Amino acid sequence: MWSKLLFVALFGLFLAAKFEVNDAVVFRFTNFVCESYNKSWFVFHNCRLKAVSRSKVLLNMNGTLLHSVDNATLHAQIFKKANGFKPWVLDGTVDVCRFLKKGYNPFIQIVFNLFKGFSNINHTCPFVGPQIVKDFYLQNELLRLPFPTGDYMLSMQWFFRNKPQFDTNVSFSYVEDLLKRKN
Ligand SMILES: *[C@@H]1O[C@H](CO)[C@@H](O)[C@H](O)[C@H]1NC(C)=O
Ligand SMILES: *[C@@H]1O[C@H](CO)[C@@H](O)[C@H](O)[C@H]1NC(C)=O
Ligand SMILES: *[C@@H]1O[C@H](CO)[C@@H](O)[C@H](O)[C@H]1NC(C)=O
Ligand SMILES: *[C@@H]1O[C@H](CO)[C@@H](O)[C@H](O)[C@H]1NC(C)=O
Ligand SMILES: *[C@@H]1O[C@H](CO)[C@@H](O)[C@H](O)[C@H]1NC(C)=O
Repeated sequence: MWSKLLFVALFGLFLAAKFEVNDAVVFRFTNFVCESYNKSWFVFHNCRLKAVSRSKVLLNMNGTLLHSVDNATLHAQIFKKANGFKPWVLDGTVDVCRFLKKGYNPFIQIVFNLFKGFSNINHTCPFVGPQIVKDFYLQNELLRLPFPTGDYMLSMQWFFRNKPQFDTNVSFSYVEDLLKRKN
């Protein structure tokens, strides 16, 4: 009797845990815009999202760096959508080559770790030639973001030697963990 109850309780916990992992968080890319401001240095061949299911959207990018780069800066901002996009939570600038060598920024490190398995942009400077992101998506279990539910845009503006070269702006919607919120 007790062992049966124990089994039912454990099975219930297992289902609850599974439910939480699979259904509690929804993260979906909703838009991806790329633009080069200096096509003699960086060209985009494509930048697109591909929906493979209701909750899974893959991000692809293919570009070429026509000359080597060893001095790059990223200006990243996160905006929350509420009557237009408003700045929210994050606004920072990173020395890209120093970051790739030393990983000195813990927040960017988390984002970079999620991303680097899907890209050849995973080494230290200098960069040259094809720059590829292939079928990038976020798995639910990695999605404990400190955000409230909503629509967001992550704007990334890239500078070489302090001059603007291109933008990659990604919009996404995020629905937070309802089970976790009850605790
Ligand atoms: C990317 O977002 C920034 C910040 O809102 C904006 O200034 C820039 O024009 C956007 N770039 C593109 C290509 O839409
Ligand atoms: C544009 O790219 C070329 C390299 O092809 C570089 O010499 C030039 O300085 C860049 N222009 C700006 C404004 O960064
Ligand atoms: C990227 O685009 C270039 C130019 O269209 C193409 O030759 C190359 O095969 C593409 N690479 C990938 C990984 O799609
Ligand atoms: C970088 O990505 C390439 C191709 O995606 C892969 O073969 C290589 O092992 C990766 N390198 C690191 C250091 O992760
Ligand atoms: C990158 O280039 C800018 C503009 O030329 C310069 O001010 C800056 O010191 C350079 N940064 C590094 C790390 O070399």
